[in-house]
Amino acid sequence: MAFASAFGDEARLLRMKETARGLEHGSMLYKSTGRCFRPFYVMCLSRTILIVGFLFVVWQSYNNCKAQQELCEMTRNSLEAIKAASIACKNINEPVHVPIPTGAKTCETIAEYKTMGKPSDGPIIYAITPTFTRPVQKAELTRLSQTFLLVPNFHWIVVEDSPKKTPLVVNLLASSGLTYTHINAPTPPHYKLGKNDPNWKKPRGVEQRNAALRWIRNNLNESHNGVIYFADDDNTYSRQLFQEITKVKRVGVWPVGLVGGLMVERPICEKMTNKVTGFNAVWKPDRPFPIDMAGFGINLKVILEKKDALFAYDIQSGFQESEILKQVTRRDELEGLADGCSKVYVWHTRTQPPVLNTEQILTKRGKSSNVGIEV
Ligand SMILES: *[C@@H]1O[C@H](CO)[C@@H](O)[C@H](O)[C@H]1NC(C)=O
Repeated sequence: MAFASAFGDEARLLRMKETARGLEHGSMLYKSTGRCFRPFYVMCLSRTILIVGFLFVVWQSYNNCKAQQELCEMTRNSLEAIKAASIACKNINEPVHVPIPTGAKTCETIAEYKTMGKPSDGPIIYAITPTFTRPVQKAELTRLSQTFLLVPNFHWIVVEDSPKKTPLVVNLLASSGLTYTHINAPTPPHYKLGKNDPNWKKPRGVEQRNAALRWIRNNLNESHNGVIYFADDDNTYSRQLFQEITKVKRVGVWPVGLVGGLMVERPICEKMTNKVTGFNAVWKPDRPFPIDMAGFGINLKVILEKKDALFAYDIQSGFQESEILKQVTRRDELEGLADGCSKVYVWHTRTQPPVLNTEQILTKRGKSSNVGIEV
């Protein structure tokens, strides 16, 4: 009995324990389900921030990827032309070192920059630059030479208007890294500009450009593939101009910025055929070829064929371009380049003569600022 009662007690005790456990379980359930009734944003705020942040990061990196790809595509396209023009070494022996810009890290940019200025299979551009001693001369020639370093197959013909070659130009050319020919050809005294003459009064550069043409005719022949370009030292040149110059079959023309009183003086060209249908010049539009010296290139074979074509002294100012062009071509033969004459790759910037009144005072006192320093 005692056993039975003890057993019954045992059973009751067990039931009570189970009930207690059940209650405990229930309270746990209550506790956990109780959380479900808290507002959603409290429960999920931190998780929501995490998820939104993650999505934002994903979206951002997707956009970055797309922008990178577009940049690469643009770089590839714009450099394709250079690649095509910079293949193997043939005509020039001196390799030209072209530094790689530090910012250039995308796609093939670095590889492409390494090919810039290196010899290619294309024609050699013979750029004729008349120059004379003046305060801005070294600055002008430095600007030009460092643009020309970017041009594959480039030969610079520098002609000094002086009875002797000057050390400044000798040294500048020797350290330029360019292939060059250095000539001096003084303008005959009769034609020299007086101190107060405006620069249009007498033709400038005639003696020098003719000396360069004679050098070309004496030193080059039909076996050479080249284009002649008159690159005055008071202009600014884009390296893209020289890609256009390599396309000149006989005589090519293109727009020139900041000349003739206009933002751009240019031939009007048919885009499909490259034929020149007219010119937009306002200054002396009746010139046979109303374009600037920087606005045309002549193939070497034309210069050799028309072996007497030269610039002349006794002609009206602004007619030098027409003078040479009328001896070698006709208007209807001109090849309009630079994307149908729609792009400006050269500007007649004309460096302003610097103000040196203080220097003149110092010089009179024998205290020039540039004694022993080449400027
Ligand atoms: C052309 O000039 C080169 C030297 O620059 C010479 O070797 C070649 O024989 C010349 N050709 C003719 C046809 O005169």
